[in-house]
Amino acid sequence: MKKKLAVAILLSGGGSNAQAIMDACKEGWLQAEICVVGSDRMEAGGLERAASMGVDHFVVDYKGILEHPDAASLFPVPRDFDVEAVLKKQSLFPKGHDMEKVRTFFTRRAAAERLLLDALLPYDIDLLVLAGFMRTLSPYFIDGIQREEQFPRIMNIHPALLPSFPGPDGYGDTWRHGCRIGGCTVHFVDYGEDSGPIVGQAAFSIFPEDSLEEVRRKGLEQEWSLYPACIQLYAEGRLVLEGRPGRDGKIRRVVVCS
Ligand code: GAR
Repeated sequence: MKKKLAVAILLSGGGSNAQAIMDACKEGWLQAEICVVGSDRMEAGGLERAASMGVDHFVVDYKGILEHPDAASLFPVPRDFDVEAVLKKQSLFPKGHDMEKVRTFFTRRAAAERLLLDALLPYDIDLLVLAGFMRTLSPYFIDGIQREEQFPRIMNIHPALLPSFPGPDGYGDTWRHGCRIGGCTVHFVDYGEDSGPIVGQAAFSIFPEDSLEEVRRKGLEQEWSLYPACIQLYAEGRLVLEGRPGRDGKIRRVVVCS
């Protein structure tokens, strides 16, 4: 029998996407095994969903780490963290941004990211799936999961039709902008904000009378089928990055092979 894709999930909230992915595995049409679910928040409802499906789960309490008055001594910067290497790779902050602030931003998160890596790596995963994980991940973390840009191993789902409306409130931004069409995007994660190669998208109509809640409801419904379908393409080895860099030198196109 073919080996199933070993998947880990990170989430911050209710975990309806994680549920859809775990259900698709159980139903057998997604040939993957969810090895572990992790969260940055103890209160994340997705952790209970994992527990009820008998899936290992863990928390790295980002708030507790970032806001602790003795954070520097309790959560020291990991020895293998190289802030200059991170600054060179990252494209979350534009050039010209206050570099001291950017340095502090990444350095403060490094201890939490090390804990995430320490929790995930023992599972020997093939793919890390971000399902409503609301924390920025630095090149330090990304490189800890995937060794080569050409072979991405982290996927994210974003609640908008990228490259429109990156950031934390995709459906809200789509709705406030008065868009007639909304959607969601599954993409590989790179060193920028929601900027990695697009794997799949799904769209839906927005009518003038639709509330933001209605837009979110329609969007989530699309996400629940799009995300497992994209993971299945990955499991089948059908996603290939096309070696044609865009204007900024980044390789963006994902080709789905038959
Ligand atoms: C989903 O809408 C997902 O697209 C979004 O969070 C929600 C999580 O819902 N992700 C992001 O905004 C990532 N930046 P869920 O916890 O019910 O799966």
